[in-house]
Amino acid sequence: MQTELSGTQRSSYCAEVTTDQIGQEVVLKGWAHHRRDHGGVLFIDLQDRSGPVQIVFDPDEFSKDAFEAATHIKLESVLAVKGKVRRRPEGTLNPNLKTGEIEVLLSEYEILSTAAALPFPIDEQFNANEDLRLKYRYLDLRRPEMQRNLMKRAQVARVMRRVLDANGFIEVETPCLTRSTPEGARDFLVPSRLVQGTFYALPQSPQLFKQLLMVSGLDRYYQIVRCFRDEDLRANRQPEFTQLDIEMSFPTPEELYKIMETMMAEIWRELLGIEIKTPFEQITYADAMMRYGSDKPDRRFGMEIKDLTAAVTAGGCEFKVFNDIVGEGATIRGICVPGGGEKYSNTQLKPGGELPAFAARHGAKGLAWFRVVEKDGALALDSSISKFFQPECQKRMIEAAGGKAGDLILIVADKPAVAAPALGQLRLKIANEMGMVPEGVYNFCWVTDFPLLEWSEEDKRWTSMHHPFTMPNPEDWDKLESDPGAVRSIAYDLALNGEEVGGGSIRIHRRDIQERVFRALGIGDEEARNKFGFLMDAFQYGAPPHGGIAFGLDRLMMIILGVGSIRDVIAFPKTQTGSCLMTQAPAAVDEAQLKELALKSLVRRES
Ligand code: AMO
Ligand code: AMP
Repeated sequence: MQTELSGTQRSSYCAEVTTDQIGQEVVLKGWAHHRRDHGGVLFIDLQDRSGPVQIVFDPDEFSKDAFEAATHIKLESVLAVKGKVRRRPEGTLNPNLKTGEIEVLLSEYEILSTAAALPFPIDEQFNANEDLRLKYRYLDLRRPEMQRNLMKRAQVARVMRRVLDANGFIEVETPCLTRSTPEGARDFLVPSRLVQGTFYALPQSPQLFKQLLMVSGLDRYYQIVRCFRDEDLRANRQPEFTQLDIEMSFPTPEELYKIMETMMAEIWRELLGIEIKTPFEQITYADAMMRYGSDKPDRRFGMEIKDLTAAVTAGGCEFKVFNDIVGEGATIRGICVPGGGEKYSNTQLKPGGELPAFAARHGAKGLAWFRVVEKDGALALDSSISKFFQPECQKRMIEAAGGKAGDLILIVADKPAVAAPALGQLRLKIANEMGMVPEGVYNFCWVTDFPLLEWSEEDKRWTSMHHPFTMPNPEDWDKLESDPGAVRSIAYDLALNGEEVGGGSIRIHRRDIQERVFRALGIGDEEARNKFGFLMDAFQYGAPPHGGIAFGLDRLMMIILGVGSIRDVIAFPKTQTGSCLMTQAPAAVDEAQLKELALKSLVRRES
C-alpha cells in the first residue's frame, strides 16, 4: 500500500512507545522482526535499535489486497507504519518487553525496502558460525546483543572524555601516516606515490607525538585513537585496535594513578552500577612475578605461589632432583590447591599426566605433587616421592606452602624465570577448574617498577620492556652501562582480573639519558639520529618532565561487557588471519596501481 508514510517523521523509536500513549496515533519505522498469524490477524514485531514493539494488521482496517500484501512481508524488511496504541488484551501481556503491555493497531503501512532470504536468523540467542556473522556483519550488528555492545562502548568513550575534559585534558589528533614508532611489533607500511621508494608506517601508538605535544606546552593530552600492529593475532588482539591515549606534563605516578582511578570508578559506576574501591592496590613487578607468576596478576582469588627453597634445604630432603637443582642456584616454588587432593587424580598428576603436561607446555621441566594428609595426628605429605622427604622436612614444606589436610601442593623446581610463569599458568587453570574465580568481582591493580630492559635470546640483545622512551629509575642510572638488566624503570601497567588493560610510564625528557638508553638497546648514535632525531632535537628546546598511559579500549570493553571475544566489541573486526570477511581486505591490487607506486609484488594474485 503506497502512502506518504515514507516522508513522515516518526513519532519515536519503536520501543519508546509507552502506555501513556494508549489511544494516540503513532508513526514508527523499523525492521519486521517476528511474524505471527492469529485467527486471520497478523502480528509483527517492528524493531529498531531501541527494541521491538508489536504491530497489528487487522483485516478490517485494510483493503483485501493491502492485507494480503502484508501477510507476505519478508522478515527484516523495512517498514513505515501508522496506527493507534492500544493495551494488549488480557493474557497476551509480555512482562519481558519494555513495550509488553501495548501494541499498535495499524491503519497504514508502507514497505520501504524488502529483504531477501537471510543468511542466518537475526535473533538474540542465535549463535551463527562466526565466519558467516563476519561476512554479513551489517546483519550481525542488527542483533540486539551487538547493538548493546556498540552503544555501551560509545558510553564508555563518553565517560572517558567527560572525566578527562573535567581534569583539563585536551583532545588532539595525531597522524596515521607517519614513521615507525617502536612498540615492539611489526609496522604496517604504506608506500608513498610522491616520493617513490619511501614508506609511511601506520602508528603502533601515538607515543612520540604525545611526547612532542608536551614539549609544545599542551600540558595534558588525550585521544581515542586507532593503533596498528602487525603481530601474530591472539584471542585478545587485533591488528588495529583502539587506545585511550593520555599524556601529562609534570606528573608524579601517584597523580596520574588518581585521575585514572577516578575515570575507572566513573565508568564502573555508570555502566555496571558498581562502586569499585580506590585507590587501587599497587604491586611491584618483582612481587607480582614471585606471588602470581605473571605481570598481570589475577587477584580475584588467592592460591599464591610460595617459595619452598628454605623449607626443603633446611635438611631431611633426599630427593635428588630438588637437591641438584638447588645446587645449581635455582629455587623450589609451589602452589597449594585448597581441597585439590581429591579433585585431581593420580592419573592427572603422574609424569605425562594432564597437569605435568600443562606445566611442561609452559616451560616447566617437571611437576612434583604432594597431597596433604593427616598421619598419626600430624600433617604429612603423600605422594610417589614423599619417601624422599623426612617428616620434619615435610612439616616445613606444608607450613611454607600454607597447606591443610585435603590440599594438593604442586612444585616446580627451576630458575625463577621458568618456575614462576609455569606455576602462574597452572594457578589460573586450576582456579578456573575448581570454580575459585568469583563472578562480578573486578580487581584492579597497578603493577609498578618494571625492569627497563629484558634480554632477547632471539636477537641476542637488550630490548625495552615497555618502549625506549621510558624513564629509568634515577637510582639505577649508574647501572645503565654496567648492569643493564638490573635497571628498574618508572613504568606501570593497570591489570584487571588478569588482563593488562593499560600501560604507561614516566618518560625520558633529557637528551643525555635518552642517548644512554638507546645505546643500552644497541641503537647506534647514527640510527638514533635517523629515526628519532626530531625527538632528540625537541628535548633541547625546553622539554618538561612528562609521562602518560594508554588503555586498550577493546580489552576494557570485553571485561565490562563480559564477552569472551574481542571481535564482539568492535564493529568491523578482523579474523585471526587479519582479514575482513565482509570487504575481503586485504586484497590484491591491479598492476597499474603498483606501477604508480613503483612496486612489484613477488607474489602474484588476481585482483
Ligand atoms: P602498550 O603497548 O602497552 O603501550 O599498549 C597499551 C594498551 O593497549 C592494549 N593493546 C591492545 N589491544 C588490542 N589489540 C592489540 N594488538 C593490543 N596491543 C596493545 C593493551 C595495552 O595495555 N605508547 C604506549 C603507552 C604509553 O606508554 O603511554 C603503548 O602503546 O590493553
Ligand atoms: P624423575 O626423576 O624425572 O622421574 O622425576 C620424579 C618426579 O619429580 C616426577 O613427578 C617429576 O615430574 C618431578 N620433577 C622432575 N623435575 C622436576 C622439577 N624441575 N621441578 C619439579 N618436579 C620435578
